[in-house]
Amino acid sequence: MRSCLIVVALASAASTVVAATPSKAVATLHPTPGSGVEGKVSFVKVEAGVKLSVEATGLTPGKHGFHIHEFGDCSAPDATSAGGHFNPGGDPHAGPLDPARHAGDMGNLEADAAGVAKLEYVDAKMSFEGANSILGRGVIVHANPDDLKTQPTGNAGGRLACGVIGVVKAE
Ligand code: CU
Ligand code: ZN
Repeated sequence: MRSCLIVVALASAASTVVAATPSKAVATLHPTPGSGVEGKVSFVKVEAGVKLSVEATGLTPGKHGFHIHEFGDCSAPDATSAGGHFNPGGDPHAGPLDPARHAGDMGNLEADAAGVAKLEYVDAKMSFEGANSILGRGVIVHANPDDLKTQPTGNAGGRLACGVIGVVKAE
């Protein structure tokens, strides 16, 4: 009888852990000094990975490298405290559709003439749990385009905005 009670207690503890696995996250992008670039990135868990919805403003028209970086630390004025690209698999830098790439390689944001960039896609490598968990990591918008091939950064230049990926309250 006692062992039966213990099994019930363990089972309910385990289901509590499962229910607590996040399914939504957000990063608010704050400008580095002198930049004026700000925005928001929403992340939602879907069957095929994580669906991203991005809106950023204050950009120069054209492409801007856009990545998840290893650390959720935007404290340095130039945001270098966020480290390099999030790369749990030890892969080369590439584009978001390439099979071998950093988990944080999101390619480019493309701003219109008004300096507004919008992007929506499902990323197959990102996760909210395990080695590829993006929670607590950094999001960076760069000054220059990511060429999707130069190692290890895509030659995307300085960091215009930085945000930290945090868990959003489940609905
Ligand atoms: Cu970057
Ligand atoms: Zn990369």
